[in-house]
Amino acid sequence: MKKKEIPYPVITIDGTTASGKSTVAQEIAKALGFTYFNTGALYRAVTWRILSLGYDVHDEEKVVEACSRLKLRCAIQKIDSFYKATVILDERVPDEKTDLRSAEVNAAVSIVASYARIREWLLPFQRELAYQTPLVVEGRDMGSVVFPESPYKFFLDAQLEEREKRREKQGEKDDVEKRDRLDQSRSSAPLLCPADAVRLDTTKLSIEKVVDKILDVLWKKGLPITKSKA
Ligand code: DC
Repeated sequence: MKKKEIPYPVITIDGTTASGKSTVAQEIAKALGFTYFNTGALYRAVTWRILSLGYDVHDEEKVVEACSRLKLRCAIQKIDSFYKATVILDERVPDEKTDLRSAEVNAAVSIVASYARIREWLLPFQRELAYQTPLVVEGRDMGSVVFPESPYKFFLDAQLEEREKRREKQGEKDDVEKRDRLDQSRSSAPLLCPADAVRLDTTKLSIEKVVDKILDVLWKKGLPITKSKA
């Protein structure tokens, strides 16, 4: 099906777990005045709610059925100096650290995200935001499936050891390798680097360097690098 044309620029940042996507995407959003949207938080919020309602995430039918009853919406909020899309589920805003990044959610989110019907359900939510504001979106299938028409695609990766170190430093219990394996091997919208994306290895690069490189590519691609209002 042909996708409806989006009126604003969308910068897609995909990549492996702990490759630096979130920090980099937020810095790019701040620099451009675009809205930051972490789509991992969407999959995490759904997983958190399903777990807190007592469902077994391995039971695909029940998970899909439970999701059909969830009330999901996104709100664009100004937090500190930038705009961020926040996920609201059944009128609750899950806490970033204690709810969305708990060890239980870390272990279950890739299973929920592997269900094609869950991905189909979440696709319009993600595209909808792009009709309201310029976006920097972060995830696994932003450039390949959700916004394939974007001319501004990036893919971040880093050596496994470095990514594991980063997660540990953040004090999180997270099996980075297992999650990547699940994300890469699922049949629906697997994690991959789109052919037309700029690939960056962040193993030895500082956040500032990665941000500079991305802004440079955007400028060369003709994106007007000026502050715009979300
Ligand atoms: O970026 P993150 O680690 O918060 O993402 C959590 C999980 O959500 C990730 O392991 C896979 C899934 N995800 C996805 O399948 N597609 C996206 N666009 C974003 C996240």
